[in-house]
Amino acid sequence: MEAPKTVSYSLMFLAIFVLLASALSLANAKIQEHEFVVQATPVKRLCNTHSTITVNGQFPGPTLEVNNGDTLIVKVINKARYNVTIHWHGIRQIRTGWADGPEFVTQCPIRPGESYTYKFTIQGQEGTLWWHAHSSWLRATVYGALIIHPRGGETYPFPKPKRETPILLGEWWDANPIDVERQATQTGAAPNISDAYTINGQPGDLYKCSSQGTTIVPIDSGETNLLRVINAGLNQPLFFSVANHKLIVVGADASYLKPFTTNVIMLGPGQTTDVLIAGDQPPSRYYMAARAYQSAQNAPFDNTTTTAILEYKSAPCPAKGVTAIKPLMPFLPAYNDTNTVTAFSKSLRSPRKVEVPSEIDESLFFTIGLGLNNCPPNFSPSQCQGPNGTRFTSSMNNVSFVLPNKISILQAHHLGVQGVFTTDFPTKPPVEFDYTGNVSRSLWQPIPGTRVTRLKYGSRVQIVLQDTSIVTPENHPIHLHGYDFYVVAEGFGNFNPKKHTSKFNLVDPPMRNTVAVPANGWAVIRFVADNPGAWIMHCHLDVHIGWGLATILLVDNGVGLLESIESPPEDLPLC
Ligand code: C2O
Repeated sequence: MEAPKTVSYSLMFLAIFVLLASALSLANAKIQEHEFVVQATPVKRLCNTHSTITVNGQFPGPTLEVNNGDTLIVKVINKARYNVTIHWHGIRQIRTGWADGPEFVTQCPIRPGESYTYKFTIQGQEGTLWWHAHSSWLRATVYGALIIHPRGGETYPFPKPKRETPILLGEWWDANPIDVERQATQTGAAPNISDAYTINGQPGDLYKCSSQGTTIVPIDSGETNLLRVINAGLNQPLFFSVANHKLIVVGADASYLKPFTTNVIMLGPGQTTDVLIAGDQPPSRYYMAARAYQSAQNAPFDNTTTTAILEYKSAPCPAKGVTAIKPLMPFLPAYNDTNTVTAFSKSLRSPRKVEVPSEIDESLFFTIGLGLNNCPPNFSPSQCQGPNGTRFTSSMNNVSFVLPNKISILQAHHLGVQGVFTTDFPTKPPVEFDYTGNVSRSLWQPIPGTRVTRLKYGSRVQIVLQDTSIVTPENHPIHLHGYDFYVVAEGFGNFNPKKHTSKFNLVDPPMRNTVAVPANGWAVIRFVADNPGAWIMHCHLDVHIGWGLATILLVDNGVGLLESIESPPEDLPLC
C-alpha cells in the first residue's frame, strides 16, 4: 500500500511545481502595446526625394524587441492611400491566424483611413524575425526588425554579446515601388530592377549622394557582438560579408544553429541569419557589404553593392583637414556563385539532435517555377511585353495562385462560405516531366486557380519543393506562414525518392521558416501540422507572388482544448 502513496505524493509535488513554474513565467511575460501609423513620408535617397510609405515616419520602420512569452498588441492605423496589412514574418501565430496578415488570406486589407489591431503571443521562439507589409509591393519600404530575446532569466546558447545590431538588407527603387509593380502587371513584362540595395535603409558610399547617411555599426577591440542580418529585399537573394572579420553563424529564422565560422553568408528574401563578430582586428573602419546572388539566367538584375561601416570605437580619428582612409572592402562571391551558396546552406545544423517526424501522413510534391502565358486574344501587344509577346506567370504544381478579393480564405473557411476556394490542390505535379531538363512548351502555361491543400490537425507533413527550368531555373526562397519546418535535404536535378530519401538528415537538420530551394534543384521539408488556420506558402521574391507562385495549406482544428483557432477579433477588416 506504500508505493501508490509515494506515486501520488510525487505527482502532487510535480503538479505544484508545474503550476509554480508556469505562474512564474506568466508573471515574467509582458504585454507590449504599439501603434503603427502607415503614412506617406518624404525620404531622400540617391539624390531624389520620394513620398515613401513608412511606419511612424521611420525608414526602416521601428524595431520591436520582446521576450519569448510576451504578448504584442500592435494597432495599425492606415493613413496612406493604399490598402495595407502587416505580417509578422516567422511568428508562429499559434491559434491566432487572424493576426498573421497576408491580404485576402487571413484578413481583408486595412483600407485607407481604417485600422486593425494585431494581437499575438510569442510562444517558444527566440532570435531574429521581422515584420513587413503583406499587400502589393508596399513591403519595399514598410518593414522592420522583430527581435525576440530569451525569457527573463534565460540566456543565449552562446556568450552574451556586448552589442547587438540589426542589419536590415533592403532594396530601393528610385521610383514609387507600387508604380513599378503596376507597370509590370500592365505590360506582362518583368518589373524594373531596383536602383540600390540598402543596409538599415542606407545605400552607402558606393552610390551617388549617399555617403553622408552611410550606416555605422559600432564595435570595440576585444568585444564580441551579434549582428542580426535580415534580407528584407523584395526580389533579390544577397551575399553578405564583412572585411577582415569572420562571421560565426549561431542562428537563422529565429532558431539556433550549431555555430560555424564563415566569411560570407547568403540570405534569400525573408531569411534571417544571426552571426557573432569579434573585434579582433586593428582598430579601424571596415566595410560590411551586400550584393546579389543571381541564379536566374539571362535576367537583368541590380548588380550594385551596398555598404555599411564597421567602426572601432578606438579607431584613431583622422587629423583635421585629412580625409579618413577608405575602409577595406570585403571579398564577395561572384554573382552566380552557386557553389558558395550550397556550401553555406549545407553547413546549417540544429545545435543538437532534434525531433523530426520520421513517419509521414501527408507526402506532398510541389514543383515551383516560372511560366509564360501566350497573349490572350483580348489583350493588346502593349499588355504582352514578356519574352516573344507573352506575359510572365508562375506556379506551384501548374496552379498559378489567385487570391480571392471579396473575403479572406481564413474567413471563408471559418464561416463556411462556399465558392471562395477549392480543396483540390494537387499533391503532386499533374504531369510528371523532367523538371530540370528541357521542358516542352506545352507545360509553360499554368492554370490559374484558388486551390488549397487541406491538412488534418496534427498530421506529419513532408513537402518536396522542386524547382523547374521553365523559362529559367532560379533559387526560390519558399516561405511558409504559421510554421517552422526542418529542412531535411536539398540537392540538384530532379528529386528521386529512391535515391535521396536514405540521405535525409533526420538527426540535426536546421529549422527555418524560409528555405532557399537550389536553382535547378530541390529541398525537402518536414513539420507537424499542429497550428490550425489558413497558411500561405509562397516564394518570397515578391515579383513571383504577383505571378502566382503561392499556395495555401488549410489546417483543420483539432479536438483538444487548445487545438482550435481562436474566434476572429471584433475589428477584423472585412471586404
Ligand atoms: Cu515575409 Cu508571406 O511573408
